[in-house]
Amino acid sequence: MTSPKIVVIGSCNIDFSSYVPFLPKLGETLYADKMVITHGGKGANQCVAAARLGASTALIGRLGGDSTGKHYLKDLQKNGVNTDFLTISEDICSGTAVITVAKNGDNNIVIVPGANSKVCKDDISKATSFIMNADVVVFQFETPIAATVEALQLLQKGKGKSIVNAAPALANPDGDVFKLSDIFCVNETEAEILTGVRVSSIDAAETVVYKLREKGCKVVVITLGAQGVVFATKEEPTPVHVPAKQVTAVDTTGAGDVFIGAMAYYLAYYPDMSLKENIRRCCEIAAVTIQTAGAQPSFPHRRDLPNNLFQ
Ligand code: RIB
Repeated sequence: MTSPKIVVIGSCNIDFSSYVPFLPKLGETLYADKMVITHGGKGANQCVAAARLGASTALIGRLGGDSTGKHYLKDLQKNGVNTDFLTISEDICSGTAVITVAKNGDNNIVIVPGANSKVCKDDISKATSFIMNADVVVFQFETPIAATVEALQLLQKGKGKSIVNAAPALANPDGDVFKLSDIFCVNETEAEILTGVRVSSIDAAETVVYKLREKGCKVVVITLGAQGVVFATKEEPTPVHVPAKQVTAVDTTGAGDVFIGAMAYYLAYYPDMSLKENIRRCCEIAAVTIQTAGAQPSFPHRRDLPNNLFQ
């Protein structure tokens, strides 16, 4: 069995997205223009994003024994994702996400974990050979942290790099996730939950970078939506700002996931590329995504993107 270059350990959700004029206020009831059901979940999104760019990928996670779970499994396979270690949990429903998307592209999301909550250390040990042989292993926080830490520990003896996308953020995650990650990536909301610093400017993002480095992160990447990205590494600890391409957003759902999927792709297939150039290209791909509705439906294939992103 050939090992995939990118292994994602993470969630699958069925997304129920309502499109509203603006995000509702506390206690407010709104009419939506439409409701769309699509395949999502941060883990699956990141895996599909990398696969559509041309990466060989595998997803380690869980779907429910319901018909939606079985349908989702087939869809992942159609996207070229290896599902050898994606387990169907017969006794529980698939994860779901209730998403509200405003006219300006902003969103908020409520998740019911379902089968994602069953991801466990045993799932990790069954997939040991994939994890040890991957070039890049990607994590988020929509599956239990004990399994994440187990895989990160295993990976210390493996050949690959880890990307930990701490989304959605936990206020006090197991401290090992900071130290064991090679690249630690969060958006501005998650950065605030983890550090207590409100990320309202690029300067504030730089403060967060220092705080996360103090927690033991080697490389910190903070995504700031239209404001781009701020990052720093152990070797170059002064934070660097990478601006984003300005486009009109229709739906930002999954933009962070396509960013992470693309980052994994460039790390695996262009290992000599600088992190700054990697991030610049990821921002460009994320900007394409937010101009179309939905998470996975908006993720581009390599054939849809300019050639210069692959040179
Ligand atoms: O990041 C977007 C994703 O978050 C959605 O697809 C939803 O399922 C939630 O996991």
